[in-house]
Amino acid sequence: MSWLIMLVLLFLLNLVSSDINQGQFSFDSYLNVDGVAGIDSSGLFKLTNFTRQTEGHIFYKNPIQFKNSTNGSVFSFPTTSIFAIVSEYPTLFGHGLAFVVSPNNGIPGALPSQYLGLFNQSNNGNNSNHIVAVELDIIMSSEFNDINDNHVGIDINGLNSMVSAPIRYFTDEGKFINVSLIREDPLQIWVEYNGMKK
Ligand SMILES: *[C@@H]1O[C@H](CO)[C@@H](O)[C@H](O)[C@H]1NC(C)=O
Ligand SMILES: *[C@@H]1O[C@H](CO)[C@@H](O)[C@H](O)[C@H]1NC(C)=O
Ligand SMILES: *[C@@H]1O[C@H](CO)[C@@H](O)[C@H](O)[C@H]1NC(C)=O
Ligand SMILES: *[C@@H]1O[C@H](CO)[C@@H](O)[C@H](O)[C@H]1NC(C)=O
Ligand SMILES: *[C@@H]1O[C@H](CO)[C@@H](O)[C@H](O)[C@H]1NC(C)=O
Ligand SMILES: *[C@@H]1O[C@H](CO)[C@@H](O)[C@H](O)[C@H]1NC(C)=O
Repeated sequence: MSWLIMLVLLFLLNLVSSDINQGQFSFDSYLNVDGVAGIDSSGLFKLTNFTRQTEGHIFYKNPIQFKNSTNGSVFSFPTTSIFAIVSEYPTLFGHGLAFVVSPNNGIPGALPSQYLGLFNQSNNGNNSNHIVAVELDIIMSSEFNDINDNHVGIDINGLNSMVSAPIRYFTDEGKFINVSLIREDPLQIWVEYNGMKK
């Protein structure tokens, strides 16, 4: 598969929000939905439901071009999403979620739980995966050297994050404020790629 053509999930969903608001939303036109993912009666996308150890994907269906030529630089892009992690029980949660860029609009064979629906035991860390993800991880998995149970990480072809950081935001005064991903009210995340600085 060509590196030029990749697919983007989830965070592009704001592109189609007007269709959702009209209640006329059609999965077929924009999205590939699999696993237990779906859309609920209020029009929200759900990646999983309360069934344990399940996973789901929502992929933008059509390939997105990230380069002009094989050896060209990857385009810069910003993307944003609003999400919430909601549990059936106040003290029991799933593992998290991820924004993913993948060569296909599905990841068959990916496992739930600590694999975040991205990889499995056999392919974790394999460069042939061609998968880049930004994980929001709320369980500390020592097998993947997680730094804590509330972090963001950049994953390239595997779950041992290249870089990770505790979840925090900057105030206008430049002060760090810790935030727990486990909260029922929504958070907004920006994922930005700078093609020049890589
Ligand atoms: C979650 O989704 C799956 C697949 O659609 C379904 O079989 C299961 O009953 C759902 N679980 C809950 C708790 O709704
Ligand atoms: C890609 O090609 C388009 C059209 O020729 C051009 O406008 C754009 O600047 C190019 N982008 C990059 C990153 O080379
Ligand atoms: C891209 O780079 C590779 C490795 O440097 C080179 O072999 C190939 O000819 C280049 N392709 C183009 C279209 O420039
Ligand atoms: C692991 O995932 C890959 C890619 O999604 C898939 O091709 C492969 O069959 C999976 N392996 C197992 C053992 O499930
Ligand atoms: C990585 O994946 C490729 C393609 O599936 C496979 O041929 C190769 O054996 C894998 N490498 C390792 C170290 O598992
Ligand atoms: C914020 O979290 C970091 C670790 O993630 C911790 O070291 C620090 O003490 C926390 N700060 C506050 C004010 O809770």
